[in-house]
Amino acid sequence: MTEAETLIAAARAAAVHAHAPYSRFAVGAAVLLSDGEIVSGANVENASYGLSLCAETVAIAKVSARGRLRDVVAIGVIGGLMDTHGAATGDTPVRPCGRCRQVLNEAAQLGGRDLEVHCAGAEGDRIESHRLSALLPDAFGPADLGVR
Ligand code: THU
Repeated sequence: MTEAETLIAAARAAAVHAHAPYSRFAVGAAVLLSDGEIVSGANVENASYGLSLCAETVAIAKVSARGRLRDVVAIGVIGGLMDTHGAATGDTPVRPCGRCRQVLNEAAQLGGRDLEVHCAGAEGDRIESHRLSALLPDAFGPADLGVR
């Protein structure tokens, strides 16, 4: 499997644990670290809707908790509306929301890497691959605050 296929498969596995009873839109994310480790996450919604966390943000928070924020190389993201059994459906690629792009940028700039962002639908075979710098051009980041 390619890097993209591996990360999309891991993101699909993670989406099974989405807590998304309000939107019924399950998202999974899988972050690749420089040593090959994969750290995944799924969205965590809240009865107070605005407190909900995206899958990408959950995965990056797990990476940070392991002290590995500087080691992020790539991320795979999948998502789709849940069927009556709770399984994510559809083949439209899910691209990280604006807030998640900014969260990813923190890891990218600290690590000195332009991240690969692989996106797919919950069921579809087609994987779109983007550079984070294309999804979030001219990003504000740690360097703007003198942090490296
Ligand atoms: N969501 C993500 O987890 N990642 C994204 O990039 C887009 C949106 C989640 C948030 C919410 O739980 C659900 O998808 C519907 O917006």
